[in-house]
Amino acid sequence: MYRTTTCGELRISDVNRTVTLAGWVQRIRKMGGMTFIDLRDRYGITQLAFNQEVNKEVFDKANALGREYVLQVTGIVAERYSKNTNMPTGDIEINVTELNVLNEAVTPPFTIEEDTDGGDDIRMKYRYLDLRRECVRKNLELRHKMAFEVRRYLDEQNFLEVETPVLVNSTPEGARDFVVPSRMNPGQFYALPQSPQTLKQLLMVAGFDRYFQIVKCFRDEDLRADRQPEFTQIDCEMSYVEQEDILNMFEGMISHLFKTIKGIDLPKLPRMTWADAMKYYGSDKPDTRFGMQFVELMDVLKGYGFSVFDNAAYIGGICAKGAAVYTRKQIDQLTDFVKRPQIGAKGLVYARVEADGSVKSSVDKFYTQEVLQQMKTAMNAEAGDLILILSGDDAMKTRKQLSELRLEMGNQLGLRDKNVYSCLWVIDFPMYEWSDEEQRLMAMHHPFTSPKPEDIPLLDTDPAVVRANAYDMVINGVEVGGGSIRIHDASLQQKIFEILGFTPEQAQQKFGFLMNAFKYGAPPHGGLAFGLDRLVSLFAGLDSIRDCIAFPKNNQGRDVMLGAPGVIDQSQLDELQLKVDVKD
Ligand code: AMO
Repeated sequence: MYRTTTCGELRISDVNRTVTLAGWVQRIRKMGGMTFIDLRDRYGITQLAFNQEVNKEVFDKANALGREYVLQVTGIVAERYSKNTNMPTGDIEINVTELNVLNEAVTPPFTIEEDTDGGDDIRMKYRYLDLRRECVRKNLELRHKMAFEVRRYLDEQNFLEVETPVLVNSTPEGARDFVVPSRMNPGQFYALPQSPQTLKQLLMVAGFDRYFQIVKCFRDEDLRADRQPEFTQIDCEMSYVEQEDILNMFEGMISHLFKTIKGIDLPKLPRMTWADAMKYYGSDKPDTRFGMQFVELMDVLKGYGFSVFDNAAYIGGICAKGAAVYTRKQIDQLTDFVKRPQIGAKGLVYARVEADGSVKSSVDKFYTQEVLQQMKTAMNAEAGDLILILSGDDAMKTRKQLSELRLEMGNQLGLRDKNVYSCLWVIDFPMYEWSDEEQRLMAMHHPFTSPKPEDIPLLDTDPAVVRANAYDMVINGVEVGGGSIRIHDASLQQKIFEILGFTPEQAQQKFGFLMNAFKYGAPPHGGLAFGLDRLVSLFAGLDSIRDCIAFPKNNQGRDVMLGAPGVIDQSQLDELQLKVDVKD
């Protein structure tokens, strides 16, 4: 045994015990005849004391150590003269009698402390050193605990964890696939699963009834703070269920996580239709920690000669409580914010409600005080509030712009507290969304999603308004999970493929295995998948899911530590019968 005790467990009650510890040198402080070392392991930090008078040999050895050396020390636990109340072991130190250097270390490229001096790139290059920092490690400890509680809950509910293959063919989540060439089948490629969607449906056909898997998924899409090219889903599917059963089951899972991990009793989750989410928040993942809902102002502000509004297909406002104090400069900054190319608004109209209740707006010359007062009433605004208005010729686009402005105002007014959790279900998603790029309807969720039974007749006449039995769970403006009731009827599935523009041959070629399976008795089924990385980062209050992933990729999809992706040897290419012809 290298140690009797970890670096996190000794307390004042252990004084006079002889103990052996092992760990890394975090810090060395030389103070004349005394040297102090902070020894670190996964469990904490313990102070080691070396006294020249007491043991000159060990003292000299200690003075020759460097940061991140790996030590084994034996000594006697003593009460500390100056206690450190910030550390659980801060009442004691070890008077070291034996010191054994288990390994030396070169000087690390950054300090391994809470507030490190290492920039992002260097920390990712030396991620194994970054992971020694407590603040990073504790995110992975949380991740472990959450995955453990998920397994516990689902096991108790009779779910079976089944592994599915990683080398598959293209799956239908709608992102680009990562592909892997097959040596044994030259010219052919596997695709890595964007999710185990079709496989879990086959497990339902196979009679597994309740499936889950904590599983890696791969999507070659543009990366953002909450997106990684490989990420982890808590993937679930159930047979003989309706939407209500699934919502209840997984509301139960999230409540279990909040209770066991955070000690929070989650209230019953509210449900919002997709149509309302878009109408009031301009987003299918509304951050409901704060109000500031959209108010449509078409009726109030059109027809007074202000051509921007007169020609608009949508005019909507938000009311920022107490923000009438915003200066001209702050409002100009908001205008610049909404005009950024990523947001794309043409301009911003504002109106302040003055202390006397009168309204002063940036478009006063077009509107009488009477109309402005009508607007104030519509907006439910009071003295001291700031009304911000966007308009545009495409209602959906304008709502999305207003949504960005709302979130920005939420940030600026401190309404998006990371310690407050607001969870909801968004339900009744449309089946399809129009793709400008492809000039056709695309499945909003995926092609196996069932339409609402009452909307099925509309498939022939007006498919764009058909609603799906699809749902997302949203926490604090983050889509943490989503799923649907699936189609289990081959002829309905065929019809959906047709609407999506697949010929029967294409549908057969792509998804024939699933449609054939459905001929052998598919139970009604449905499911959903949670993004584990997103859930952990919300629970940990992180800004990016990267911080709860042991070895994440950067925004270019690179692992800078491994140097992946990289070129491969000519001999490997020859074996695969592949020629590389990179166009720049
Ligand atoms: P969906 O595509 O909505 O559904 O994915 C489910 C959840 O996975 C998370 N997620 C991601 N997390 C990190 N990085 C990414 N690139 C990423 N993409 C998605 C989100 C999302 O809610 N097969 C269906 C589920 C089903 O119908 O059962 C699916 O994959 O939190």
